[in-house]
Formats: sequence, structure tokens, C-alpha cells
Amino acid sequence: MKEKIELLWNEISSATLQNQQDLEAFRIKYLGSKGVVKELFGELKNVPNEAKREVGQLLNTLRNDTEQFYEQWKEKLASSSVSKQSTQDFYRPGNSEQVGSRHPLSMVRSEIIEIFSRIGYTVSEGPEIEDDWHNFSALNFPPEHPARDMQDTFFVEKGEKEMALRTHTSSVQVRVMENSQPPIRTISPGRVYRNEAISARAHCFFHQVEGLYIDKHVSFADLKQTLLYFAKELFGEKAVIRMRPSYFPFTEPSAEVDVSCTICNSKGCNVCKYTGWLEILGCGMVDPNVLEASGIDSKVYSGFAFGMGIERISQLKYKVNDLRLYSENDVRFLKQFTPEM
Ligand code: PHE
Repeated sequence: MKEKIELLWNEISSATLQNQQDLEAFRIKYLGSKGVVKELFGELKNVPNEAKREVGQLLNTLRNDTEQFYEQWKEKLASSSVSKQSTQDFYRPGNSEQVGSRHPLSMVRSEIIEIFSRIGYTVSEGPEIEDDWHNFSALNFPPEHPARDMQDTFFVEKGEKEMALRTHTSSVQVRVMENSQPPIRTISPGRVYRNEAISARAHCFFHQVEGLYIDKHVSFADLKQTLLYFAKELFGEKAVIRMRPSYFPFTEPSAEVDVSCTICNSKGCNVCKYTGWLEILGCGMVDPNVLEASGIDSKVYSGFAFGMGIERISQLKYKVNDLRLYSENDVRFLKQFTPEM
């Protein structure tokens, strides 16, 4: 019996446990209620009386030592599993997270909306797939009118009705005029599409903000002053504007607006192509035909409209020389607009 105990202790004390499963298997095998140690206690009754006391003591020692041995392994395995999780040095700097940034177009868009909302303009939106009426006819483009060619249109078939990707957000303004009565003061930001070859200077889609103001006695002077206010807010107090006559079917008279080049203070640089002026938008007094087409009495009301490309303004603000950069999702481009932290 003594020999048995000794052999068993040799076996137990030389055990090496790798993990929690080993630990549990060890506990069941040696210390469990049907374990080896318990079994030996069971054999105590076969030991001759005179040796019982000694063997009993040896068995007690065996059980205690085995328990202690087990506890030691338990502790060891617990601490090693913690150290496995924390092989990293807590004092090392953490992995830096990529911080997202706002797209330059959406920053400029927000800024334009903000400038106009300060003088009472609301924001209107409409569908990108439009019918002929809202994109053309209601805006005084008669069928077969050559002005339709000014805007290279993408047509889409939709049931019987021919639809098109809107070529400007003036279509949204028609919807606003149809659904409300003056005074109307609204801007319509959104994406527009034109069938143009993609290059550094042109894309088949871009973004616009168009504005519309209709009330009694709205004059060209109001238009001019509104746009001057806008130019100063966007490009700085020193900005001045000039208007050149132009043509749009939906406005009469029409003008194109240039803002003084704030990059070179109108001295001439490669951004303004040494003219001192940057073209930023088209505008004009809403043609009475357009008012009438949307159910607004042109004898009572007059109004002005204007429209600009967000890409164009953003290019001027951030000196971006290729339109394609806006839609290529190149992080090297986009991350330059990350706000300072
Ligand atoms: N809709 C015109 C365009 O897309 C811009 C514009 C709007 C011009 C309103 C005049 C008045 O080119």
C-alpha cells in the first residue's frame, strides 16, 4: 500500500498541464469522487489494523499534496491565459483610426445652403429622373427648340412616357411653382446629368444649386444685390461681381455672373486665366411664359432665378484642377479635406 501511494505521488507530481482541459481532466482523475485518491482511501479497510494509522496518514498527506498541486496549476494556468491576452505592451501607442472627412462637394453645398438660408431661402428637392415637362417644356423649351441641344440629355424609357435624367435642377423649381403660390424663395441643390465626354473639365454628372425668388415687384436690381451678397459671403468681403448678357430659354433678360478673382485680387493668375474674373453662375428674370406654365399670374408676379455648379465653386475654393477627382473616391484626394483636429 505504501508503495502504491508513493508510485501514485510520483505520477501526480510529474504531471504537466497545458490548459484548462488538462486541469479539469487532472481534477477528475485524481481528486474526483470516483478518482484515484478516493479509491485508495477505499482500500484502507483491507490494510492490517496495526498499519492502518500510518497508511491513513500517508493517504491524508497524498490527498492534501494532490490538492495543493492542483491549486498551483490552476493559478499558473489562470495567470498564463491573462498574459497571453496581453502580449501587447500597454504603453505602446494605440493603432490610429482613419478619421472620415466630408466630401468637398458636400462642404460647399452646405455652405451655399447656409448662405441663402440666412436670407430666408428654403431648400427644395425633386426627382433625378424627370419628364419632359419639368425639365424642358415648362421652362419654355418648345419641342424642336435648338436650346434643347444646349443640354446633352440622357433619355430613359419608362413605360410609354419618355423620361430623362434631369439636366438641371430648374425642374425642381417648376415643381415648387406648380405646388405653391408666391412669395416663393427657395434653392434646389442636387445632382444633374449631361451626356458629355468625361475629361478634366467636364463630367456626365455634376451638382447644382439653383435659386428662385418670386413675389410682387421683384426686379433685376434685387437679383444683382442678392448675388453680390452671395459672392461676398462665399469669397470674402472684397469680392465684387459683374454681369454679362447671356441666353437661357427660361429667363429674360439673362446674364452670366463673374466674381472678381480673390486668389490674385484681380491682378491676373492662372486660375482666372489672367482676366481677373471667375465665371460662377447663370441667372435672369423668370420668363413670363414659365410663370404662366406653372399657374402663376405673370401680370401680378415677377421673379428671378439663378443656377450654379457646385463642382465649379468647389474648384475655385480649393483649387482643384480636375473634375474627375470628385467622383473617383481616391482617399489621397479626399483626406485633404479632413477638418483639423
Ligand atoms: N438651369 C441653368 C443651367 O443648368 C442655370 C440657370 C438657372 C440659368 C436659372 C438661369 C437661371 O445651365
